[in-house]
Amino acid sequence: MPLGPLGPAHPARPSDGEPLAIAKQARRRAEPSNAPPDYHRTVTDDRPYSPGLEGVIAGETSLGYVDGERGRLLYRGYRIGDLVDHGTYPAVANLLWTGEWDPGHHLPTGPIPEAVLATLRALPRETKPMDALRTAVSAWGATQTLDWPPTPEQARALTAFSPSALAAFARIRRGLEPVEPDPSLDLVPGFLYQLNGERPDAATARALDAYFICGAEHGFNASTFTARVIIATRSDIASAVSGAIGTMKGPLHGGAPSEVVEQIHQVGSPERAEAWVRDAIARGERLMGFGHRVYRAYDPRAAALRKVAEGMEHRPEWLELAIAVEDVALRVLAELHPGRALKTNVEYYAAPVLMAVGLTPDLFPATFSLSRHAGWTAHVLEQAANNRLIRPDARYVGPPERDLPV
Ligand code: ACO
Repeated sequence: MPLGPLGPAHPARPSDGEPLAIAKQARRRAEPSNAPPDYHRTVTDDRPYSPGLEGVIAGETSLGYVDGERGRLLYRGYRIGDLVDHGTYPAVANLLWTGEWDPGHHLPTGPIPEAVLATLRALPRETKPMDALRTAVSAWGATQTLDWPPTPEQARALTAFSPSALAAFARIRRGLEPVEPDPSLDLVPGFLYQLNGERPDAATARALDAYFICGAEHGFNASTFTARVIIATRSDIASAVSGAIGTMKGPLHGGAPSEVVEQIHQVGSPERAEAWVRDAIARGERLMGFGHRVYRAYDPRAAALRKVAEGMEHRPEWLELAIAVEDVALRVLAELHPGRALKTNVEYYAAPVLMAVGLTPDLFPATFSLSRHAGWTAHVLEQAANNRLIRPDARYVGPPERDLPV
């Protein structure tokens, strides 16, 4: 019997009594064909394969439920809109870590170890904030004793540390000294205080807090899955979160609120909205802040953030414009894609909120990462509590076993 591509010790389908690749090769040989034989590509099995793991159930979670058809997002069963209306980010993070709802839960920002501060000072000033945050989390891990299994205390400490680190880097790159955490402030006002050197007003802090709640958790997205894969090897929580930040850095995941800002600026005025939207689509461009892989209904986070943006004291001037553009965009998208529901996503209203609280667009992705710390670390705890190494299979499509050319 000829050897399969992987040799007899690793038959792809042992139950067949013959590796599938060999069967396929034999079939190919038997079938009359004018095509030259393909010696470079061998399919070794025909088990179902879904590119991007789309639709594959890769685990179980009791943390977040994303109901794309009905536009619902639940954290441990609670609706996102209710959590934004009645909770704070620390309360929501604590809910994700422990399952307990304590609306008064307090979590200030944490201290930055000296070695981490030295690392941040050593970075070039033009370092991207996502790179600085990923580096800071990694350096933080080197200063801690992070034994297995990860604990809620570790989750709390890391979630509290990262806003201080990002704020410190944002100041260092402007030639300013970092600001010490204020333990009397909760995490989100504390972050703004360390960023700007002055305490934020209540409405500004509340608006960013709402954004943090909306960003806290979203099921098995790419960065969360990364964190689970890393912790499943019995690595540590800092490694899991720095890997997750690296995953979120990619433009397909890290979001588009800064591009929404750019787009609204380009539109300029409500009267120009219709022509601009139609031209952009005709050029083959995507309208930033619309469409979603999972949601077929209005993203409930966008609804919650729109409410926050509309209720803000210092509303950015262009919020009215954003609302006018949204109406036009939804109408045109429905007209051009009648068979596919393309609705507003979270990024669209994240943009006005992040602008209004005074963040520069280059800080948007790293701020999104800060908000997702609660979800990442909660998934780390959940994975570790019922751990199994995550190690899927791949379908081999390379050359069959062969001799090295001599
Ligand atoms: N603007 C214009 N057309 C769109 C948009 C959009 N925002 N989104 C989808 N379409 C069109 C596509 O061109 C495609 O048309 P076609 O069938 O004629 O080729 C059709 O709708 C389906 O598009 P898909 O790419 O299959 O949709 P998918 O679900 O894979 O994409 C995605 C989701 C990537 C979010 C997409 O809607 C998009 O690019 N949106 C703009 C960017 C954005 O807002 N990103 C943030 C997402 S939220 C987050 O990441 C937290």
